Amino acid sequence: MRTKIVAGNWKMNKLPSDAAALIGEIRAATNDGDCGVEVVVCVPYTAITAAAAALEGSKIGLGAQNMHWKDSGAYTGEISAGMLKDLGVKYVILGHSERRQYFAETDETVNLKLKAALAAGLTPIVCVGETLEERETGKMEEVIIRQVSEDLAGCQADFSKIVIAYEPVWAIGTGKTATSTQAQEVHALIRATLAKMNPEQADLVRIQYGGSMKPENAADLMAKPDIDGGLIGGAALVADSFAAIVAAGK
Ligand code: 13P
Repeated sequence: MRTKIVAGNWKMNKLPSDAAALIGEIRAATNDGDCGVEVVVCVPYTAITAAAAALEGSKIGLGAQNMHWKDSGAYTGEISAGMLKDLGVKYVILGHSERRQYFAETDETVNLKLKAALAAGLTPIVCVGETLEERETGKMEEVIIRQVSEDLAGCQADFSKIVIAYEPVWAIGTGKTATSTQAQEVHALIRATLAKMNPEQADLVRIQYGGSMKPENAADLMAKPDIDGGLIGGAALVADSFAAIVAAGK
């Protein structure tokens, strides 16, 4: 049985003091993350220190939204896995579609980052998902299989430590959610692709859904056999909404 995992992706929102306040509210609203669901908040780099302090003694996990694959060196503006670990970060989102779209992230760089995150002992949340155009031109399956195969290549032995987020790009921040049937179809495809790579560990991988997930649709989505949680954008910035989604995963 896979433990469900619900993570907030705060994106480029919240100053450190706001982050601490929101974490206080989330702690109160989720029984401090002690609720049968793994709860994670992925905050901006600049809020990590404040968030770590605000999470002291909590079961809620702290995550970042990106990292570089090198340990150190002349990479101006970049942050390494070791730097994140040192601040108490346990999870890291990799390959979010916004990074692929606006910051030239590729399957190759996601794969390098994944290997570095695993080597550092971080739990990676690897995002995959098709655009509207890809879905409408019948390329969804091809895109998902390519992303899963290339992003996770060479990491077969560590599948049980990896979380995948299926985020259809057309559902992110648009209010359009994939139906639970549409999402389950892709989650099953992701698991079948993982099973071809490592049959022993494919069933251990948690696959989150992300894209306009909210309290109203979360229970229906997470009731599906291959939907093991959610990666939440907008609704994660409001403690009560985030807590209601967490509760829907119980
Ligand atoms: P929304 O929940 O705002 O659609 O964002 C989803 C997302 O991108 C989470 O990573």
